[in-house]
Amino acid sequence: MKTSPRSVIQLLKTVPEQQEVTVKGWVRTFRNNQFISLNDGSSVKSIQVVVDYENTDEVILKQINPGAAVGITGELVASTGRGQDVEIKAREITIYGPSDPERYPLQPKRHSLEFLRDIAHLRFRTNTFGAVFRVRHALSFAIHKFFNDRGFFNLHTPIITGSDAEGAGEMFRVTTLDLENLPLDENGQIDYREDFFQKETNLTVSGQLEAELGALALSKVYTFGPTFRAENSNTSRHLAEFWMIEPEVAFADIHDNMDLAEEMLKYIIQYAIDHCADDLEFLSHRLEQEEKQKPSHERSPMPLLEKLRFCVENKFERLSYTEAIDILMQSKPNRKGKFQFVIEGWGADLQSEHERYLVEKHFKKPVILSDYPTGIKAFYMRVNDDGKTVRAMDILFPGIGEIVGGSQREERLEVLKNRMAEMNIPEDELYWFLDIRHFGTCPHSGYGLGFERLVQFVTGMSNIRDVIPFPRTPGNARF
Ligand code: 4AD
Ligand code: MG
Repeated sequence: MKTSPRSVIQLLKTVPEQQEVTVKGWVRTFRNNQFISLNDGSSVKSIQVVVDYENTDEVILKQINPGAAVGITGELVASTGRGQDVEIKAREITIYGPSDPERYPLQPKRHSLEFLRDIAHLRFRTNTFGAVFRVRHALSFAIHKFFNDRGFFNLHTPIITGSDAEGAGEMFRVTTLDLENLPLDENGQIDYREDFFQKETNLTVSGQLEAELGALALSKVYTFGPTFRAENSNTSRHLAEFWMIEPEVAFADIHDNMDLAEEMLKYIIQYAIDHCADDLEFLSHRLEQEEKQKPSHERSPMPLLEKLRFCVENKFERLSYTEAIDILMQSKPNRKGKFQFVIEGWGADLQSEHERYLVEKHFKKPVILSDYPTGIKAFYMRVNDDGKTVRAMDILFPGIGEIVGGSQREERLEVLKNRMAEMNIPEDELYWFLDIRHFGTCPHSGYGLGFERLVQFVTGMSNIRDVIPFPRTPGNARF
């Protein structure tokens, strides 16, 4: 009787009745010429295959090495061994791709994350990275589901753009000009009319400006795409290429925006708790081991799963930037000069150390900060009546710092034009962004969720390079 192949995760849940099954995957270990631990990436768990070595071809036996791709057909039986309910008694073994045991770098032991980053082409084969990327998938799916179920439309905004949405100038140039022989105009400047798009272009830092145009017609949209930032920050929370989710909602103010973001984060995290139990349990255990290596004052006060549940069950603390500055000014690390950047007063930009103090030490829960000084935020945020602050909102998470950044948008044409002039943003480049304020402008709001920071929070991975398959950071674009 021919049976269709099944995944390891399906087989582990199947009642063993000596039925014939076929499974294909990669050998993790082969003990005593008898027990294969086989993993196909469907689960953090592997299935045990029992090889009848006396009746198996010597040539086949020699090729059952860690990393080899194999197919197994045999009987699914109850296992008497520890740690598994079922196992397969192999009748037929097919070697699809052998693996040179001398050169295969993955050993059945704990490898450092640094070492695995260096072999990122193979790190998917480890339990840790398998778990991280399955959780990453679930989170991505949950995001689409969350927005779809609430009547949002997914909008694909361009990756190549001519504008700098955040006005921070941290962009990668896109050009087909010959860098060795640049065409010059009559003033001796580079002549971009000769370039592919006949203008200067770059990789987008955000899809927001285009999403605003969509929202002012479709009412509720969201983007989920790659974004690029040429900021030279080599930290555990920055990538040069990362994925961002940017919802944009017409007729929504900053409070609606906060409600949406809080509801979204709780929904996604709950989705992971409900759908990634095995992987989260594995990652939680991994983190516990990692934490043991740290000095006690640096250890996280909560195990991973507890932290996730805590986040879902508690209302995020909401306060203004001004209130946060008061708390920080009075805080011990600020008074004793322990912060690397001591806060001198109102108007200071908050660094990650300040954000983490508020979240981890002061409130001990996620925080939504709003109404930041005009001077430290982007040009498109709505100016408050005090003229000094804008309707910005950042969500700060334990261990991460800023996970969401957003605002109510400036819908008033004249105010927006003044802000752009103050910040030296040329009107002609963004005429379309201004134009939408001519024709049926309305209050609207949105935010950006850094996808990798979310994956970091949910998986407990401390370095952002370990939650994206192939990280792009300063000096690194391998693989
Ligand atoms: O705060 P940011 O810069 O906001 C925007 O880009 C807005 N246009 C969003 C909007 O209102 N539609 O970035 C949003 C989020 C941050 O909170 C952070 O989580 C993440 O994107 N982020 C990064 N993640 C990884 N690496 C980087 N270099 C990041 N820069 C920002
Ligand atoms: Mg921000």
